[in-house]
Amino acid sequence: MKSFLNVQSLSNDEIFALIQKAIYYKQNDKFFYAYKDKMIANMFFENSTRTKMSFEVAERKLGFRVLNFSAQTSSMSKGESLYDTCKTFESLGVDALVIRHSLDEYYKDLAGLNVKLINAGDGAGSHPSQSLLDLVTIYEQFGGFNGLKVAIVGDIKNSRVAKSNKAALERLGAKVFLAAPPIYQDKNYKDYYKLSDILSELDVCMLLRIQHERHDKNELDFNKYRASFALKMSDYKQLKDSAIIMHPAPVNRGVEIDSELVECEKSRIFMQMKNGVYARMAILDYVFGRA
Ligand code: CP
Repeated sequence: MKSFLNVQSLSNDEIFALIQKAIYYKQNDKFFYAYKDKMIANMFFENSTRTKMSFEVAERKLGFRVLNFSAQTSSMSKGESLYDTCKTFESLGVDALVIRHSLDEYYKDLAGLNVKLINAGDGAGSHPSQSLLDLVTIYEQFGGFNGLKVAIVGDIKNSRVAKSNKAALERLGAKVFLAAPPIYQDKNYKDYYKLSDILSELDVCMLLRIQHERHDKNELDFNKYRASFALKMSDYKQLKDSAIIMHPAPVNRGVEIDSELVECEKSRIFMQMKNGVYARMAILDYVFGRA
């Protein structure tokens, strides 16, 4: 059963094919109705706007019958497990499940099911559909990845986006710089930088949301963080002419990035969201085996 769980399990050829397919859908932006006989369920156990809605838009553009699952009103509130809930969808004849869950690698418990799985984010583990839309956005701008200098900046420890993008971009030939204060560093990675020290070299400055919900409010010295790791109006002129600014969003305006920069000329933040629909259409084709 073909699934889409993390970028590490994709070959480079598969990644490039997914990027090309997403660009095809962007250039041929219409409703296709290729999957009128297929049912898909979106199961989000963590909050989401972009991922949930853009999967639903992608599914509807491809003609799927879409079921939206609410954990709060389901029998999970009576103690039913994730496995038994997903097994129930399999029994109902649903062809694929798009799942976001707070548990790292939740999908390992679901491996025996006869239903396609698409990972919409697992804990602090992976966010492969975000990574694909980020790759599409970078590819559109630069035509490739080899030799690009990309900074991923902020709450690396809690960021599934950082982990997926570092793995994918390095495999594709980019040089990835991680920038974070010690409290946000993932100790599985060795080298860390200050954004202020590398800014002028970058092709891509990718900022991450500070995940306030996962931190004690008092653990961060906000002014110190802003000085070394936020992208501020005063930094903008240091960026190369060709550099772009990215952020998976939601954005804490005025924290990791100044509000005025969110929609500036170099920002691709809303383009990332747009590309998310096409990237997810490509992912759906991938799991259903349609080239
Ligand atoms: N970037 C991202 O995953 O956003 P949502 O949490 O809104 O889906």
